[in-house]
Amino acid sequence: MNTQLLPASPESLSLAAELLQAGRLVAFPTETVYGLGASAFNRNAVLSIFAAKGRPADNPLIVHIHDRSQLKGLCTVPESALPLMDAFWPGPLTILFEKLPAVPDEVTASLPTVAVRMPSHPVAAAMLKACGLPVAAPSANSSGRPSPTLAAHVWEDMQGKIPLILDGGPCDVGVESTVLDLCHGVPTILRPGGVTKEMLEAVLHTEVALAGSILRPLKPDEKALSPGMRYKHYAPKAVVTLVEGEEQAVLSRLRDLFLQETARGKKTCVLCFSEHLELLKDCNPHDIGSGDHPEEIAHRLFQTLRSLDEENMESVFSEVIPPEGVGLAVMNRLGRAAAFRTIRV
Ligand code: TXA
Ligand code: MG
Repeated sequence: MNTQLLPASPESLSLAAELLQAGRLVAFPTETVYGLGASAFNRNAVLSIFAAKGRPADNPLIVHIHDRSQLKGLCTVPESALPLMDAFWPGPLTILFEKLPAVPDEVTASLPTVAVRMPSHPVAAAMLKACGLPVAAPSANSSGRPSPTLAAHVWEDMQGKIPLILDGGPCDVGVESTVLDLCHGVPTILRPGGVTKEMLEAVLHTEVALAGSILRPLKPDEKALSPGMRYKHYAPKAVVTLVEGEEQAVLSRLRDLFLQETARGKKTCVLCFSEHLELLKDCNPHDIGSGDHPEEIAHRLFQTLRSLDEENMESVFSEVIPPEGVGLAVMNRLGRAAAFRTIRV
C-alpha cells in the first residue's frame, strides 16, 4: 500500500475524513502521542487497526471525540464524570464509561466499558470534526515499540500498511493519556499520564487510587485492570536497568556499570539528567531532560527509547525521578521499558 505522509492542511484533513468514512485507517497527531484511527462504528475498520499494529485482539481501544454530544451514541455518563470533563477535556484524560450496545465488541475487547477521550490537539480536533465520527485509536506504533511522538516514528512503523499519516509536528505531552476508571467504586488510575493523580484529586475532592501494577510487574496470578498492562510495552531492544538512590552514589554506580559493560564488549550508554551530562561525559550520556522538570523528561522519553534501537544499544543504565506528578507516568513507562529491573545504591 502507498502511504502518504502529509502536513495537516484543509486538503489533507478532508482526505483524512473521506478515508475514515470509507473505513480506512489514518494516523494523526494528538497532544500525547500519535494515534492510529478508524471509525469506531465500523468493525472491519477497527479490526484492520489490530492487523496494522500486530496488536493482541484482547487489548481494547480508546474512542476519540471532539464534542460531548457524541457520548450519547457511545456510553452512559455518571454524574461523577462531569467535573472531570469540565476540568480536563479537551486534554490527556481518558475516562472509562459503561458502553452502549452500538459500540462494537472489537473496540472494547468485549468489555462492558468503553474508554473515551477528547484530544486537545488542533489537528486531532479538526479531523474528528471533519469526519463527524467517533474514532477508535490506539497509539500509532507497532505493538511493543515505544509510542510515536513524531510523524517520522509513525512512518517507521506504519509505512506501507496505512494510506495516510497526518503530520502535526512533535507531540507536546509525549506520554499517553491518563486512563481513569470511574465504574468500579474508588476512582482508579489504570495508566498514569499527563493529567496527574494530584490534579484529579483536586477536582474530585476524594482520594484517587492507583492500579497496583503501575510501578511493578503484574504478579503471575494477578488480573490486569487494564488489559494493556499485561503486555510488554515501551521496550527497546537493549536491556535497560534503572539505578536508584542518593545522587552521588547513583552517578558513581552509573559510571562503574558503563565501564563494566564496555569491558565486556557491549554497546552501552547511560540515560541521565541534563544536569549530569558533563559529569558523565565519558559514559556515552543520553540527555533525558532536566531532573527538575518531569514534563520535559516525559516530552522526550519515547524519542530517546527509539534512538536506542537506532544505535543498536545492548545495555542501558538510567537515572530515575520521583514517581510524583507527571513523574509517575515517566516512571511507569521507563519501568516497563526496563521490565522494572532496578539497582538500589
Ligand atoms: O494518549 C493516548 O491515550 C493515545 C492517543 C492516541 O489518544 N492512545 C493510546 O491508546 O495510548 P492505546 O491503545 O495505546 O492505549 C489504550 C490503553 C490500553 O492500556 C488499554 O488496555 C486501555 O487503554 N483501555 C482501553 N479501553 C479499556 C477498557 N474498557 N478498560 C480498561 N482499559 C482499557
Ligand atoms: Mg499504545
